[in-house]
Amino acid sequence: MSTAEMFSLKGKVAFISGASSGIGLHLAGVLAEAGAAVALAARRRDKLDTAVAELSRDGHKACAVQLDVADAASVAPAFDAAEKALGAGVDVLVNNAGVVYLKRFVDQDPAEVAQLFATNLQGAFLVGQEAARRMARRGSGAIINVASVAGLRAAGFLSSYGASKAALLSLSQVMALELAAKGVRVNAICPGNIETDMHGAFSGMEEALLKRIPQRRFGKPEDLDGAILLLASDAGRYITGATLTVDGGQSLSWM
Ligand SMILES: NC(=O)c1ccc[n+]([C@@H]2O[C@H](COP(=O)([O-])OP(=O)(O)OC[C@H]3O[C@@H](n4cnc5c(N)ncnc54)[C@H](OP(=O)(O)O)[C@@H]3O)[C@@H](O)[C@H]2O)c1
Repeated sequence: MSTAEMFSLKGKVAFISGASSGIGLHLAGVLAEAGAAVALAARRRDKLDTAVAELSRDGHKACAVQLDVADAASVAPAFDAAEKALGAGVDVLVNNAGVVYLKRFVDQDPAEVAQLFATNLQGAFLVGQEAARRMARRGSGAIINVASVAGLRAAGFLSSYGASKAALLSLSQVMALELAAKGVRVNAICPGNIETDMHGAFSGMEEALLKRIPQRRFGKPEDLDGAILLLASDAGRYITGATLTVDGGQSLSWM
């Protein structure tokens, strides 16, 4: 198998949650470029439709799927819709939908914390479970859970967010353990500060944050391309249960 073939996703179907903006939107394009037919899932249908129109114009097979990961009832229908539109089962899941909430621990609001866990943890759980069941039935698949460096290291103001991502890392490992024999690989990526809409939550903190990043720059969604292609494709065929940090070195140092 040539190097190009190893990283190719030709003939595969990829499902990307949280694909209406930022990292998910970008990665949908990357997976499509690698040959996959892509299902873009999120709540904002207008954004998904625009993205799908652009991908289709570029000759890719793509569809938009309405999904609120916090609404358990919307998960299976979203996979059904994706598989119907793209004509085959999902081979790759990028479990990416997420929200951030910055506040001191003592000031965090229970309703906002509940919404964050319902999205970042329970949502990822439900979407991962639906994908895993379908993949296990077919005997193959790759799941990539999008966690965060905040799940690896303590970060002020991010108690609920960090806890949700740490739990997602734990979940990834158990998923990997249980699904390996079914031909399904499960890995997690931990991005550092990536410039997206979500990163706007850190407005005013840029200088302090940059001092903590050895590469002295924020990441861009493109900085995740290599990690996602490795974990989604045959190039990563013996990688499961791994956590791949993509953060310019941010999580290495405590000072
Ligand atoms: N940017 C960073 O610095 C960074 C660092 C580490 C990890 N991450 C993680 O990367 C992932 C993507 O974040 P991003 O930076 O690309 O942020 P973003 O631009 O705000 O995108 C978040 C995506 O999640 C979707 N989403 C949120 N709640 C949802 C729900 N209930 N159901 C379905 N989709 C939902 C949003 O779509 P709708 O609003 O249309 O539903 C949107 O497409 C998140 O899991 C985030 O925690 C980001």
